Amino acid sequence: MRLDPYLLRKDFPMYSKHDSSFEGKPLVYLDNCATSFKPQCVIDACNHYYEDITANTRRGDYSLAHQADKAYDEARATVAKFLNAKDSKEIVFTSGDTFGMNMAAYGLLPLLKEGDEILLSPSEHASNVLPWFEVAKLSKAKITYVELDEENRITLENYQKALTSKTKIVSLASVGNVLGYAIDVKKFVSLAHEVGALYIDDAAQSVAHKKSDVQDSDVDILVFSGHKMLGPTGIGTLYGKMSVLEKMKPLFYGGEMNARFKRDGYLTLDDIPERFEAGTQNVAGALGLAKACEYLSSIGFDAIEEHEAMLRKRAIEGLKKNGNAIIYNENSDTGIVTFNIKDVFAQDVATYLSSKGVFVRSGQHCAKILPEYLKTQGTVRASFYIYNTIEDVDTFIAACATAEDFLDAFFS
Ligand SMILES: Cc1ncc(COP(=O)(O)O)c(C=O)c1O
Repeated sequence: MRLDPYLLRKDFPMYSKHDSSFEGKPLVYLDNCATSFKPQCVIDACNHYYEDITANTRRGDYSLAHQADKAYDEARATVAKFLNAKDSKEIVFTSGDTFGMNMAAYGLLPLLKEGDEILLSPSEHASNVLPWFEVAKLSKAKITYVELDEENRITLENYQKALTSKTKIVSLASVGNVLGYAIDVKKFVSLAHEVGALYIDDAAQSVAHKKSDVQDSDVDILVFSGHKMLGPTGIGTLYGKMSVLEKMKPLFYGGEMNARFKRDGYLTLDDIPERFEAGTQNVAGALGLAKACEYLSSIGFDAIEEHEAMLRKRAIEGLKKNGNAIIYNENSDTGIVTFNIKDVFAQDVATYLSSKGVFVRSGQHCAKILPEYLKTQGTVRASFYIYNTIEDVDTFIAACATAEDFLDAFFS
């Protein structure tokens, strides 16, 4: 069934509480790749912890703490179901994608040795590059890259060329955050496994937009942030296959991740996933994340993909009709439109659009190798989501038509 963004907006206080406006202008929020608005049910789920069941988890021997434990365990089970994980023990709560990528990289460090290869792509986000740079320095492993094609996509052919018998880790975004291209994760994973490499899916830009099924794709690790998929900030997930989590070293050490320790340094780790969750956890965030998973599942990913594709098509057609834009991803696979207005700096375009109530992202989008390929220092990115409407697209296109007048934004 088609989704109705006007109906959905009633669930989102950022629209319903402010009559879909901001600072007296229609609110046209098109920076959903950066973060998403939250439905009331997610806010309520977080508040439920603060208002009804506040207690620390996994350490209290009283009924209130047991209720908090139960809610936290149920949240883990909900996220496991959302990803179709085999077991909820394979779900580790993190503070977000960046935390998850660092946990994966440092956790796998003991498996790497000099000469091993870690395969990335030039379009990866900093969070899926810099942890690997650090781990490569420590292990003397080598970072290698899949070359991009003329459209700046990661093709299967180039991926196959980049995989070698030395590749020990492949870490790629299933959907790129600048151009929105998706890769065939299942196929990529099976080829990685053929050469004996582990496959890590940076799913920051895919979990909110496409169905994720970790058993079907067979990824070894998948990480994402809650805040880009209608969930709260400060919570995310690292999914790991049990056999992989068993090999991983925890990144953080402290309370509730250990079973025993002694003064001579003796330490026994707690079970999985607890050994990866040191210290007091973001219980409210986990409850909110679980609610976001349920909310997205109730809408359905077919409807979400169809809606985003419709908005994206309209935006591309509008930009082309305007005639003043350079579009970098005309054939993108998700609701991301990346462009420049001829002879205007990306930041100036974003500031100008903001003066019209249209909020987009400009710059390098944390993917700082990609500008070499795009042959521009910065781009403007509009990213659509479930609550964006045709009117949003039309307001955006009308504003882009006059973006050469960007100086107006500074003097109005
Ligand atoms: C592909 C990708 N990976 C990682 C991240 C980092 O996510 P976070 O800042 O939520 O940790 C982002 C954020 O934009 C992203 O788009």
